Amino acid sequence: MQDSRRQLKAKESSHKMKGFHFLVFLALAVAFSFASAFDPSPLQDFCVAIPEPENAVFVNGKFCKNPNLTVANDFSFSGLNIPGNTGNRVGSNVTLVNVDRIPGLNTLGISLARLDFAPYGGLNPPHIHPRGTEILVVVEGTLYVGFVTSNPNRLITKVLYPGDVFVFPIGLIHFQFNVAKTNAVAFAGLSSQNPGVITIADAIFGPDPPINPDVLAKAFQLDKDVVEKLQKLFA
Ligand SMILES: *[C@@H]1O[C@H](CO)[C@@H](O)[C@H](O)[C@H]1NC(C)=O
Ligand SMILES: *[C@@H]1O[C@H](CO)[C@@H](O)[C@H](O)[C@H]1NC(C)=O
Repeated sequence: MQDSRRQLKAKESSHKMKGFHFLVFLALAVAFSFASAFDPSPLQDFCVAIPEPENAVFVNGKFCKNPNLTVANDFSFSGLNIPGNTGNRVGSNVTLVNVDRIPGLNTLGISLARLDFAPYGGLNPPHIHPRGTEILVVVEGTLYVGFVTSNPNRLITKVLYPGDVFVFPIGLIHFQFNVAKTNAVAFAGLSSQNPGVITIADAIFGPDPPINPDVLAKAFQLDKDVVEKLQKLFA
């Protein structure tokens, strides 16, 4: 009797411990998910990313090159003077210089892009950078730009001329549209070594495998054949 009561108590306390462990686990999981949602603050000057760990010394998301072996080219990229080819269906081209192109950007939370727009309607279509705020400067041409706030959805827009700067906050849908007869060129800094991009139309109508057209017909209040046409276009 005494024994079984003791066993019961032990069982209860083990349940409590398990509950406690679960809470700790949950707290850690939440903390960790926040930490990994943003580029980490580096604990060293830099951590030049390398694909193979032969000459690696630290691990901080990626293998880092032995800092004694780093060279200027680890921190450099050339070719942003060359326009991207805008001969595509949207009439724009983004050349992104992220950690894949400058391994020295690893852990530093920043990247750069050149944006080219064809005359008369070149469009960088509505998209999201899930991990980065963008700050853009127009160097040539005229861009109608904007972003939409989270609920309630408010549109913030402006027409930009050379020298004008505009900020697109992290995670918000935004676009840039050439409204002049000339080419437009802009450069943008992004607050992530790998800001990522979700182009709304492609993500909705073109994923592999496709989303059930009934879902999209209802969500967008479109006829199913219109949805299927869009899915063919973006597939
Ligand atoms: C880098 O060089 C310094 C000075 O020679 C040396 O003390 C250090 O161990 C080296 N670091 C690595 C990771 O090789
Ligand atoms: C952007 O331009 C580059 C360089 O001309 C080209 O290789 C690439 O295919 C273009 N991308 C798109 C989406 O048109």
